[in-house]
Amino acid sequence: MREIKVYQNDKIKELGDLYGIFFEDINHAADGGLYAELIQNRSFEFDAIDNDSYDSLTAWELSDGIQASVQTDRPLNKENIHYISVCAKVGDYIINKGFNSGIHVEKDSFYRFSIFARVNDDKRELENVQTGKIEVEILGDNNEICAKTVIDIDSTEFEKYEVTLNSQSKTVNGRLKITFIKTGIYDLDMVSLFPMDTFNGRENGMRRDIAEVLKELKPKFMRFPGGCLVHDGNLDDHARDSMYRWKRTIGRIEERPSWRNNWRYNQTLGLGFYEYFVFCEDIGAKPLPVLPGGFNPHRGIGVSIDKIGEWVQDALDLIEFATGDADTKWGRRRIELGHEEPFELEYIGIGNEEIGDGFFERYPYFHKAIKERYPDIKIINTAGPFATGEGYDAGWKSAIANGSDLVDEHYYSSPEWFLANMHHYDDFDKNGPGVFLGEYASWGNTYYNAIVEAAYMTHLEKAPAVKLACYAPLLCNKDYVNWQPDMIWFDNHDIVKTANYYVQQMFMNNQGTDEIRYEATELEDTVRLIDKDNIDGTISIIGNGIEGTIWNIIYKDITNNIINKVPDISLYPDNTENICVENVDTDSYSIEFNFKRSSGRKGFALQFGKKDDNNLIRLEFGGWDNWDCNIAVISNGRGSTISHRIFHVEDIEYKIRLVVEGRRIQTYVNGELYNDTAYQIPEIEDLYICASEDDNKTYTKIVNLTGDSKEVRINLDGCERTEVSITRLYDTELTAMNTFDNKELIRPQLVRKPVINNAVIYEVPAHSVNVFAFS
Ligand code: AHR
Repeated sequence: MREIKVYQNDKIKELGDLYGIFFEDINHAADGGLYAELIQNRSFEFDAIDNDSYDSLTAWELSDGIQASVQTDRPLNKENIHYISVCAKVGDYIINKGFNSGIHVEKDSFYRFSIFARVNDDKRELENVQTGKIEVEILGDNNEICAKTVIDIDSTEFEKYEVTLNSQSKTVNGRLKITFIKTGIYDLDMVSLFPMDTFNGRENGMRRDIAEVLKELKPKFMRFPGGCLVHDGNLDDHARDSMYRWKRTIGRIEERPSWRNNWRYNQTLGLGFYEYFVFCEDIGAKPLPVLPGGFNPHRGIGVSIDKIGEWVQDALDLIEFATGDADTKWGRRRIELGHEEPFELEYIGIGNEEIGDGFFERYPYFHKAIKERYPDIKIINTAGPFATGEGYDAGWKSAIANGSDLVDEHYYSSPEWFLANMHHYDDFDKNGPGVFLGEYASWGNTYYNAIVEAAYMTHLEKAPAVKLACYAPLLCNKDYVNWQPDMIWFDNHDIVKTANYYVQQMFMNNQGTDEIRYEATELEDTVRLIDKDNIDGTISIIGNGIEGTIWNIIYKDITNNIINKVPDISLYPDNTENICVENVDTDSYSIEFNFKRSSGRKGFALQFGKKDDNNLIRLEFGGWDNWDCNIAVISNGRGSTISHRIFHVEDIEYKIRLVVEGRRIQTYVNGELYNDTAYQIPEIEDLYICASEDDNKTYTKIVNLTGDSKEVRINLDGCERTEVSITRLYDTELTAMNTFDNKELIRPQLVRKPVINNAVIYEVPAHSVNVFAFS
């Protein structure tokens, strides 16, 4: 029988803040998500720069014949310049449609309605009406009135009117209707409807159900606010498409700009840095803010070095905002906003997966200034969007050179990549910068994805250099999907916790304070999922929306010394696939050719090792918006980047060569080595195990990725335990997923067992995740 001996007194390392969460306003995670505002486009600020389909009346509906327009000439303030101006007859109305199917209100629940309004816009010399009156209704299914009130508007300058509405019935298809019941000229702005029942009852707070699901994870930290959200955008912080600047996100919500979110929608910034800090405190997570480093890798633009001081100052001011006392400018600002005590700030991230020298030239300015003033703050550098390659190496080099405390790594890969890279961190220097795995996921929300991630987490827990890790993305509104998979799906009233969520929860809830030693005996050998040591399959070429030519194509079977000349290829934007060489079945081969693009923005993909459309390897020449020269492995339709170089294809001639020797892959561009990598074979270990403890409990986590159940005896060495709670995921189809129609299909089960003589015998189910908490 397999034996796992757990040495309770043999601590290996402190686990610290290992497991946390990453919140980004992607997939409408904030507006229309965690941020509880029920009105979409509340301040008429939506704009085509956010999304081609937007205008300032997006999500609004106006009654037929109404004389209304969005104006900017006498704005509420300089941040919020649009408002709706209505020259109203009695009975005219405007309606807000909310998010998803509409506004969700519950029966017998209270909602805070507020609006900035004024009447008698005398500039237009229409009527001299001194007061106005509006009726505010929440309409439900079939226009049933859920709640209703009347507000007198008696100001001729913008003033805030606020009332509480009590909903008499439930709807998830609600509308907010404002009817003008007195003739007049009205200007309206910042139309807001908030549930009173927010998480922890906070005004301008979070949707309770989503917040609770996050709290139940018990994350040790929360990284925010992004993601690409942080570094994509204009360097001018007053531009509508500005990069994320935290100072613009605090204070009165009507004075925060509502501007472009790089995920192609609008962000109100109602969920701003103060709210993020408070929320972290409310869920017991340490805040881990990320600030831009003055460089936008999407557009390749950076603030000039002589102006970097302003950006560095933003970082220093943020730390002061979080931790300073009343004698400091920003500490005082926090106190004014309502938080007397400092927030517990320990980490700060500079940059998010930037690649390119532009970032690494700027990072040292931040690092030096922060360390000089706040030596205890841990600074996080960044290592690009892949687990390897040019950006990754540059991030680590910069982190080592500058003495960064941590390096933020990101990767989204196939389950097969995770199976092949379980030992990715084993050899990382535990005395160098620590690893912050700030974004990772295997592509998918199936049970299989989740259990593979669980296996990977057992290795993260044991890797000496890994300090922090969080799955990404966290939240997705099902009607506004930018990215998937995601950990939690929701709409305007419902939530689906994925299998991936439950894995994260099982690990976070049972992290322990220290990793402890275990010994496993009688385990079977690791099994390779590919038994070949070469990369065989067909070779083909696909253009990436370009017109171009490929000529002088020579294929060499190096092993058998055979050379084939292949006919020239023309690439067209709509071309599908050009087969050059079929059925490569040799250990070593190469293909070389000349390439020139005549029109288009990107390049092409050279596909090799191709078994079928879902299983192949790709040299992406001018991939991702013409930024990359990558090698990507596609396994069962899901891609993993295994080599990355920054590269822009131009309309010039290139000489390209691919060499495959065994599992090693090299590319040359104009004779220069560009990619040099190996396609690792995915493999499955007999069992994936890790052990930890805290003051009260001893934890053992066992993941079984095989189709066989396995009996194990867990022996505890050290303090006496008498009971074990086992939380487990098992007995589920590998392709199964939780959905809105079947939310509970996959969820952990709990069993309790007595522990006799400090040992327990347990049948580890096939394809299962098992977390033992001994007490
Ligand atoms: O998590 C989704 C996106 O993936 C993040 O915004 C970015 O950092 C990464 O590329």
